[in-house]
Amino acid sequence: TDISRIRNFSIVAHIDHGKSTLADRLIQATGTVSDREMKEQLLDSMDIERERGITIKAQTVRLEYRAKDGLDYVLNLIDTPGHVDFAYEVSRSMRAVEGSLLVVDASQGVEAQTLANVYQAIDAGHEIVPVLNKIDLPAAEPERVIEQIEDVIGIEAGDAIRISAKTGIGIGDVLEAIVTRLPHPHGRADAPLKAMLVDSWYDAYLGVVVLVRIIDGKLRKGERIRMMSTNALYPVDRIGVFRPGMQVVEELGPGELGFLTASIKQVRDTRVGDTITHERKGAVEPLPGFQPSIPVVFCGLFPVDASDFEALRDAIEKLQLNDASFSAEMETSAALGFGFRCGFLGLLHLEVIRDRLEREYNLDLITTAPSVVYHIYKTDGAMLELHNPADMPDVVRIDHIEEPRIKATILVPDEFLGDVLKLCQDRRGVQLDLTYAGSRAMVVYDLPLNEVVFDFYDRLKSVTKGYASFDYTVTGYQEDDLVKMQVLVNDEPVDALSTMVHRARAEARGRAMVEKLKELIPQHLFKIPIQAAIGGRIIARETISALRKDVTAKCYGGDATRKRKLLEKQKAGKKKMRQFGRVDIPQEAFINALKMD
Ligand code: GTP
Repeated sequence: TDISRIRNFSIVAHIDHGKSTLADRLIQATGTVSDREMKEQLLDSMDIERERGITIKAQTVRLEYRAKDGLDYVLNLIDTPGHVDFAYEVSRSMRAVEGSLLVVDASQGVEAQTLANVYQAIDAGHEIVPVLNKIDLPAAEPERVIEQIEDVIGIEAGDAIRISAKTGIGIGDVLEAIVTRLPHPHGRADAPLKAMLVDSWYDAYLGVVVLVRIIDGKLRKGERIRMMSTNALYPVDRIGVFRPGMQVVEELGPGELGFLTASIKQVRDTRVGDTITHERKGAVEPLPGFQPSIPVVFCGLFPVDASDFEALRDAIEKLQLNDASFSAEMETSAALGFGFRCGFLGLLHLEVIRDRLEREYNLDLITTAPSVVYHIYKTDGAMLELHNPADMPDVVRIDHIEEPRIKATILVPDEFLGDVLKLCQDRRGVQLDLTYAGSRAMVVYDLPLNEVVFDFYDRLKSVTKGYASFDYTVTGYQEDDLVKMQVLVNDEPVDALSTMVHRARAEARGRAMVEKLKELIPQHLFKIPIQAAIGGRIIARETISALRKDVTAKCYGGDATRKRKLLEKQKAGKKKMRQFGRVDIPQEAFINALKMD
């Protein structure tokens, strides 16, 4: 393809502003798939994504479009994930294209993720075309939103395209704008091959599929390629493009986006951001580097039923085939037996993976307290990266502890501002900025990630009735007065409930936790003390009184069915419990005990 007829772009938007609907419309309008084949939200292929309405894996589609100038163009759309946990996947796909459509819901206006994503597009040097979606809604206020885009984002928006991705209004204008307002890529066909590895995933039939953007040179089937970061060599089996199904082509030239397969065994053998070149007469300098995506939140996953351990291992391995940013290492816990310590990009990533393990693989899991990665500086000068509070060294050997901090951006209607400030303040936040755009406030806070991983998002949603939007980036590490808090049930420490807390907040946390556990743990035939402790010092205590009567006692013996039902219920409940010494702790207790009100 003539490079001047190629346009590569992504769509940036806040969740729910209509990115997938617009992508589907563009595919439809260019006749890339017939109406019959058109499934709703074609680009979101995984079920769980469709259910939750979030896009996780970046995907690509090649559209062919005859413009009003009578010429044929190739438009490559890269679909990018919208959620903060996947910021790294967004940034790498952004570097593979030259422009972005900035989609803003004309009835909602700019939201936190709109900002986060559009700044990434600006950083990547994109030309940006603002698009106002949902103008069919009576609540749409395009003029106000244009002003807001100019004020808050600081880009020209007077010529924003007004569309309804739902009814199809304005879709033709979007296609024309892609051709006339976005730049074409640059690159030389006669230079040594430089292809950017944008993404990779495991396909049951083809093995590892690699998404590439050709910067310079040409890539053909049968050629031998070299991964520049590892020097690994592979013969290319197949190259092709997405329309949106895979279609094999003979070659890919500069400016093009496509895939290759090369009998690569595992996704782990491909490094996103790597430069692919030819084995012979290859490029000397790789493309400017990318950072690897690093897990920031860790938790333990244990099977409720110990005999499911092998099944859990298999399921984790299968999910890892497709997700290089999900890490897992075997772990043993005195209380929970064998399981895995897993690393995630953020809380949503954790939830998605846990959900898939439970639903697709039918596993009942206990999730231990999510923890961030602490830097423990020991008195001997060594630094330990602590992924699990259970591994905390003896306090006498610790010099100081640092924790990760984030910069959080929250957009919220005025009326809820007070509650949001209070929430951030309660979570040890430091206010960095507060500005207004229309009737919304934009607050920027420096917060410890540790205070955000449990339930910050849920709390934020509840205090703002769902009207706030939130986004964050990890900014660095900072020393603070952190301690490990242990929980003892019936005088035995339950390591799965250990957490790191700030000393000043330990007592309140500890009290809240033991009170919650008192409600969550059922009565037994004996008294159960529940205690929170720092080192050897007890900071909070509750006692569950002993159960005296049989549960069925109140049934007056007469009603046998009712009695049986009650006993069955009790049995079913038991299955979801784990024994700690003599005490049964229900599965939900592990997560719920950590939520703060
Ligand atoms: P994520 O995939 O979660 O990032 O969301 P998205 O931005 O892709 O949004 P999606 O396309 O799934 O649209 C969100 C909701 O808005 C869906 O219920 C759509 O039907 C609806 N929607 C999209 N475009 C329009 C529009 O132009 N008008 C109206 N009224 N509704 C729309």
